[in-house]
Amino acid sequence: MRIERFLTGITTSGTPHLGNYVGSIRPSVGHSLRSGVESFYFLADYHALIKVDDPARIQRSTLEIAASWLAAGLDPERVVFYRQSDVPEIPELTWFLTCVLGKGVLNRAHAYKAAVDKNTAVGNDPDSDVSAGLFMYPVLMGADILMFNAHKVPVGRDQVQHIEMARDMAHSFNHRYGEHFVPPEAAIEDHVATLPGLDGRKMSKSYDNTIPMFATRAQLQKLISGIVTDSSGPNEPKSVEGSALFQIYQAFASADETEALRQDYAKGISWGDAKHIVFERVDQEIAPMRAIYQALIDNPAKIEAILQAGAAKARAIATPFMGQLRHAVGLRSLQSQTDASVKTVKVALPVFKQYRESDGQFYFKLQGADGRLLLQSGAFASPKVAGQTIAALQADGIAALACSPVPLHMGPGMTEGDIAPALQALREAKQT
Ligand code: TRP
Repeated sequence: MRIERFLTGITTSGTPHLGNYVGSIRPSVGHSLRSGVESFYFLADYHALIKVDDPARIQRSTLEIAASWLAAGLDPERVVFYRQSDVPEIPELTWFLTCVLGKGVLNRAHAYKAAVDKNTAVGNDPDSDVSAGLFMYPVLMGADILMFNAHKVPVGRDQVQHIEMARDMAHSFNHRYGEHFVPPEAAIEDHVATLPGLDGRKMSKSYDNTIPMFATRAQLQKLISGIVTDSSGPNEPKSVEGSALFQIYQAFASADETEALRQDYAKGISWGDAKHIVFERVDQEIAPMRAIYQALIDNPAKIEAILQAGAAKARAIATPFMGQLRHAVGLRSLQSQTDASVKTVKVALPVFKQYRESDGQFYFKLQGADGRLLLQSGAFASPKVAGQTIAALQADGIAALACSPVPLHMGPGMTEGDIAPALQALREAKQT
């Protein structure tokens, strides 16, 4: 059985809340227990520097997130659990990837574009208050993933674009320097609930509507009693649709328990009673972890030792791999001179294949160097037009997709992120 590598990070910019628990911490612990899976989980503290300039907060957040992950059952013997900044190969790889990624790709990143749009809307300079770190953030994330050649990256939908960019970087680097990277895939956690916060919007630090994962029992009760509800009184039937309280319950309760609360809603349970049920159910899951969490927080030396051991495991992979990459790009000892006129890396290229079917029509497909089907054309009546379409794809790249007179279909599981670099590789090969 092929071992699949899962990798995910949490930015150390705040105190973990129930949304982080349900959306990231709990499922990651679940994945790590599966057989045939090798997990890399890390504290993304270099990422935190983009958002937070309070050193004490970064340090505290690193401690809290590490303790939360461990309290939730992460077994550091079973997974590679590390702090990003203990692996200096990651920023080094970031630079290598910076040099193979088109700047235009970063211009299109959602987080950067949102910042630019916000500035433009109020008449500011587009890049006002945008750090180069925010702009470069997808490259750092790409390095996190490619450093360990992860196959699957469990993320929310908002992060999918970053995984596409990591694939782009992998292809571009491989094209120039040979096959070093596995293009990663996003594992979208659709079944994982996005937890609403106290005000009904997505639970998020930026909305200030969170419930800390390790609030005390009393704090938890108080916060849950503050969740917004509608104004229906006791004995009035209540709708579960759009009820933040109900959604939070659902993320913790079994299917049977959820069904029971649904019926209570229909029967007109009072909001006070419903909140009590939700509070008890959430607390039932969190309470056993609370003591473990507290013991860990009180013993930072123990967490530090766990992270150091994790960093050693991570670097046992990263250091030799980075050595291989340094050699590949030409950062080499001068004692091992190679003839600069010999192109050492011979890269396999994707190919266009044209053919005629028994229906008498003309078709073509684009096959990746690894044999995967990237593009499949529909039927052309004229071989000349099929040929012109191929020429346009070779000359103009992905932009020509939209201009084809006959529909062009992406191969199974392919996205523009796979096809664009293949076309670019062909174009570059033609030029040299
Ligand atoms: N950017 C992610 C977030 O904000 C955190 C993160 C950093 C990450 N590096 C990663 C997630 C690599 C997955 C893989 O949620």
